[in-house]
Amino acid sequence: VILTVTLNLALDITYWVDRLNVAGTNRVRDAREQVGGKGVNVARILTALDVPVLATGFCGGAVGRRVAEDLLSSGIEQALVEAEGETRRCVAIVAGDGTVTEVTEPGPEIQETDWNRFLEAWRSLLENRPIRVVVLSGSLPPGLRDDAYAELCADADRRGIPAILDTSGPALTAGLRGRPAVVKPNRAELVEAVGISMDSTAEPAAWLPSLEALRKAGARSVVASFGSDGLVALTGEGAWHAMTPAVEGNPVGAGDAVAAALARGELDAASWPERLVEAAALSCASVAGSTAGTFDPLVFERTLRHVALSELSP
Ligand SMILES: Nc1ncnc2c1ncn2[C@@H]1O[C@H](COP(=O)(O)OP(=O)(O)OP(=O)(O)O)[C@@H](O)[C@H]1O
Ligand SMILES: [Mg+2]
Repeated sequence: VILTVTLNLALDITYWVDRLNVAGTNRVRDAREQVGGKGVNVARILTALDVPVLATGFCGGAVGRRVAEDLLSSGIEQALVEAEGETRRCVAIVAGDGTVTEVTEPGPEIQETDWNRFLEAWRSLLENRPIRVVVLSGSLPPGLRDDAYAELCADADRRGIPAILDTSGPALTAGLRGRPAVVKPNRAELVEAVGISMDSTAEPAAWLPSLEALRKAGARSVVASFGSDGLVALTGEGAWHAMTPAVEGNPVGAGDAVAAALARGELDAASWPERLVEAAALSCASVAGSTAGTFDPLVFERTLRHVALSELSP
């Protein structure tokens, strides 16, 4: 089983309006409510691939109950942990001209007692359920220390369970100290973590020193994603660049598809070239999919045969 951790879960509310009327009244043409958060996207994708998943994170209040119901109706097994406050809501208003206006709540301030309750539940999951891989995704909710992910990664590592970490900023930098099996920064996250700027037209191999810096800071392997420029991986076994033909669509959540493929690769003990081919094809298919957390299965099958994988010399 793959355990997905989404500490900052949200209820995503989408409103469709003909025209956004700022400072006026807006009539909603259509509305949808769905649990959101990067770890949930990973769980949805793995569920669609028939990989057994278990989803955890904080939920609180009436919105938290909606989140739990929605996971249930998506067929995702959950082990959510109660927090004091109310789960956040994120509202996206989609207008007829295609513009999207977002209004997001910060989420409840996580208390020390909430975190201790989470740690207890998490350790019990790792000990009593056949968890083989954990995926830690997204930002940390307010109130948690920057090293929350480091604590979870170190805990998993002690039990021989590989952790895949996909986050940004201080949560990423501090998280590296927990020795995650894989970190998956995108271009901006990598630049921020390493503190260098790079020419966006640079060759894939030019990024390797930055990936090496993250390995030196504690990550066993680094898979950096560069949007339509593909993936660059640096592992103990070698370095590769994987790329697919560019597709048009919705790039939000493509990185979550990369994390899902890397988790499945860990579960199956696949070789690095296999993992990267699958990660490139699945994330490309996710861009072709309708929303974050979905992918187009036909594009996935077809793209698997068209991934250009090249070995780089580290
Ligand atoms: N236009 C595209 N065409 C083909 N593949 C793409 C395209 N955009 C992204 N991808 C694939 O998705 C991967 C992840 O994309 P990206 O680097 O944008 O992730 P991200 O910023 O972490 O996304 P998110 O955090 O929203 O999930 C890329 O490495 C690439 O394999
Ligand atoms: Mg991302």
